[in-house]
Amino acid sequence: MSSSGEAELLHTYKGIPFTTRSSPELLKSLDTFDAREDDVLLVSYPKSGTHWLAGVITKLYDTQVTVTSPIELGDTSRLEELNKLSSKRIIPTHLDYNMLPPNFKNKKCKMIYISRNPKDTAVSMFHYYRDNPNLPTVDSWTAFFDLFLKGNVVCGSWFDHFLSWEEHEHEKNILFLFYEDMKKDLPKVVKEITLFLNLNVSDDDIQDICSKSSFSEMKNDTEKENSDPSHTVCALTSNRKLIFRKGVVGDWKNYFTPKQNIRFEEIFNEKMKLSKM
Ligand code: A3P
Repeated sequence: MSSSGEAELLHTYKGIPFTTRSSPELLKSLDTFDAREDDVLLVSYPKSGTHWLAGVITKLYDTQVTVTSPIELGDTSRLEELNKLSSKRIIPTHLDYNMLPPNFKNKKCKMIYISRNPKDTAVSMFHYYRDNPNLPTVDSWTAFFDLFLKGNVVCGSWFDHFLSWEEHEHEKNILFLFYEDMKKDLPKVVKEITLFLNLNVSDDDIQDICSKSSFSEMKNDTEKENSDPSHTVCALTSNRKLIFRKGVVGDWKNYFTPKQNIRFEEIFNEKMKLSKM
């Protein structure tokens, strides 16, 4: 990673690297953010399928909902903008559980956490680092692999992020989803989401929503889009075209060397020894 790039594009808050698109003042003032009981949070570590999930969820409502940009993106004026929204808010975030505004927890807002095999997440993030001018440049996959394992990437360690949320998995207002389950049987996962959000959506409509949310449909929509191409649910880019890369399970096999795989497994087993994953 080029050190000048790193210095300009990232800063650390409470031990976690953020891009400078998230101002320290905003991060500080999140503690006093006023949540609404009907807010829905879409939570993820970057590159876990957040846009896919957001695309599905917006299609489930027949009332007006607004998918906002991530709560940690921008400066303190963001909070006023969010306060002014009159429609129901679907709020994405990459925040660790411990950094989440306490008001969301106190008001028991519904939260959906989407996770993905960290090996595929690492590969997806590597490409994102390479293509996204808001992130520092990385010289090679080998260099990025080391940074990812050390948690020295934007949003910090995948392991810490996952574990901070997994600890709350049993809470009734939190739904845990996996990218791989969405790939395997999207209608089943969408049904689960409708039950969690108390939405009445017919099986036919679920099928239709799933077809409209396939990788190719979503990628095409983004390419034709002239409405708001700069609106993303990721705090790390304003270019939707960077989001839809390959959309497959197991791409890590094209990148990990056998040695890297062994090292990853060792660290995974150590860090996740208390996890149910
Ligand atoms: P890849 O880089 O592996 O292709 P996020 O939205 O959290 O940034 O995650 C982006 C990842 O989700 C990318 O992974 C992207 O291709 C994938 N993705 C986005 N929409 C998808 C869809 N409809 N179906 C499958 N994967 C999708």
